[in-house]
Amino acid sequence: MSFIKHQEVDAMRFEDRVAIVTGAGGGIGRSTALLLADQGAVVAVNDLDPAAAGAVVAEIEAKGGKGCVIVGDAADEAVADEASARVLNAYGRIDILVNNAGISVVAPAEDFVAWDRVIRTNLYSQFYWSRVVAKTAMIPAGRGAIVNVASIAGLAAVPNQIGYVVSKHGVVGLTRSLAVEWGRYGIRVNCVCPGITATDMTTGPTGMDPERLRARVGRVPLGRMGTVGEQAEAIAFLASDAASYLSGVILNNDGGQLALHSGVMM
Ligand SMILES: NC(=O)c1ccc[n+]([C@@H]2O[C@H](COP(=O)([O-])OP(=O)(O)OC[C@H]3O[C@@H](n4cnc5c(N)ncnc54)[C@H](O)[C@@H]3O)[C@@H](O)[C@H]2O)c1
Repeated sequence: MSFIKHQEVDAMRFEDRVAIVTGAGGGIGRSTALLLADQGAVVAVNDLDPAAAGAVVAEIEAKGGKGCVIVGDAADEAVADEASARVLNAYGRIDILVNNAGISVVAPAEDFVAWDRVIRTNLYSQFYWSRVVAKTAMIPAGRGAIVNVASIAGLAAVPNQIGYVVSKHGVVGLTRSLAVEWGRYGIRVNCVCPGITATDMTTGPTGMDPERLRARVGRVPLGRMGTVGEQAEAIAFLASDAASYLSGVILNNDGGQLALHSGVMM
């Protein structure tokens, strides 16, 4: 048996494509930046942490790829505007935007004081980067792919993370709105909702309480955490020509966790 070949070129390659990944100094963002670069893209690596972003670009360059560092808070509109202008100036195009930067703060709703910071970082940032990249690069080019990183907390509540849950539900709405509005410009907008994935956010020194983490993983039908590589693969797929008719998709990448709605322990 053979598959019908719809595309003459490898649709998961990104030769001549330029991508921006926010929060790409570590975790899922780093892994995504490295994968896109491995597949031929020039990658602009944004992070708050200059050393982390620099190390990712150094890694890309060491393998013969091309990239640049964009230091700054992804939730700062001016950072998004300047970065977009800089990348466009340097490379003449922006084909892919991965809105990945995000933070999680744990506290009961009645004591939650990090509202502004979490909503700004996780939600406002994604709107700012999408708006400037679409307006200055993708709409004029008549094409582009935006992948927003939400979470399964964008589709169901997680206790003690009200800012996170609300911001990620917002990212799902943002994805659908932009997919609907920008389809006419040839821009695809999709969203990946990672389940529990091994990064600093979960297993790092400032990550989750180990007891809570064990309980969460115990409810994943595949019986383990996801890896950053598995999240990067899903993001790269949605950014690629292999997904050329996918837009407005909210893709759970969660080991089956959201399928378990019964509340019954496994
Ligand atoms: N790890 C998980 O289990 C999980 C699950 C669901 C969703 N997610 C989402 O995936 C994305 C990446 O998470 P991760 O686990 O890789 O996190 P991480 O903490 O391991 O890495 C996040 C990176 O983003 C950078 N960053 C944080 N705030 C920033 C800002 N304002 N501007 C620029 N850079 C910033 C950090 O310096 C860090 O390098 C986030 O949006 C997160 O909500 C993660």
